[in-house]
Amino acid sequence: MTQSYKAGIIGVGSVLPEKRLTNSQLECMVETSDEWIIKRTGIKERRIIDETVPLYKMAAIAATRAIEDAGLQPSDIDLIIATTVTPDYITPSLSCLVQKEIEAANAVAFDVSAACTGFIFALQTARQFIENRTYKNILIVSAEALSRATDYKDRKTCVLFGDGAGAAVLGTVEDGTGIESTIIGSIGSKGDVLTLPFLYTNQADIQNRNEGKTQVIWMDGSEVFTFASRIMGKVCQNVADNVGVTMDDIAYIVPHQANMRILQNAAKRLNISMDRIYSNLENTGNISSASIPVCIDEMHSKGLIKKGDKIIIVGFGGGLTYGASLLTWSKDD
Ligand code: ACO
Repeated sequence: MTQSYKAGIIGVGSVLPEKRLTNSQLECMVETSDEWIIKRTGIKERRIIDETVPLYKMAAIAATRAIEDAGLQPSDIDLIIATTVTPDYITPSLSCLVQKEIEAANAVAFDVSAACTGFIFALQTARQFIENRTYKNILIVSAEALSRATDYKDRKTCVLFGDGAGAAVLGTVEDGTGIESTIIGSIGSKGDVLTLPFLYTNQADIQNRNEGKTQVIWMDGSEVFTFASRIMGKVCQNVADNVGVTMDDIAYIVPHQANMRILQNAAKRLNISMDRIYSNLENTGNISSASIPVCIDEMHSKGLIKKGDKIIIVGFGGGLTYGASLLTWSKDD
């Protein structure tokens, strides 16, 4: 039998912080209401990382769980790709910090920056390295501490975001399973609708958009909403067309968790029922690039996806960036 070099997910893991921030707590912080937040977003609570815990520690927990789930040791990992918009440091990168924390001494480590679409960009990058036989076992870890980049005086954004980490190990999988088709895209010309400045020096710009604050998210919510609603349905359909399947063949769509209304719009466009759109938004809020791997790990733990099932993961976010990947699930229960 010839060896398959098809790439697929062979291990998953995640972690959410214990601390919860509920809608009723937010009512005491800004002028908002539980009713408004649920009706406009679908979110009831988010998890918040303890202020003493560095992001890389949370990332390392998710990474360790994914490596264990794959039946591997940290020393088996050849490459670590991390994604985050809220790193502890610009350098060392999150991936290098995770490498040190989990003692994956044989790995190369670098980060990929694509905001909420980070996990899909990392997946597509990792897939190339496996299929061209450069690396065998690749860890993707997506971790976010958005509470550290949220302006809790801005009611338009502070109700949306939460913290968490998800990870996946990619390896070679049986033919007929694994990553079937991936599309990633960028629209840099529209990037100013969602920003998180760090060392940016244009004071007038920072004053206009962020009232002088750097290191907090600013978003034109309705622009992002329109973009996300359109692109999500489009790229899901595109990856299905590439593989030659229809939405009836898809067990679940696993979207980036930003707003329940975006997921409902996409379901309508794709003509599929909401029970095939996985969502944990109610309890996590938007955890940017961590949201898709956290969802996949939850679905795997709950036994919702079986070997041979086709799922589409789909994301959109800052940059602007977007992407979707159709996977045939490779793992046994
Ligand atoms: N509570 C009460 N009222 C509010 C709140 C709030 N938390 N936030 C806004 N409002 C008010 C506004 O001030 C506005 O009032 P006005 O009409 O008097 O001016 C009214 O509600 C409507 O505001 P909109 O911004 O039009 O509300 P919308 O229905 O668009 O919902 C939201 C806002 C939830 C942000 C939505 O636009 C959205 O989800 N956008 C997409 C966000 C997203 O997908 N982000 C993903 C990327 S994030 C990342 O990459 C890190």
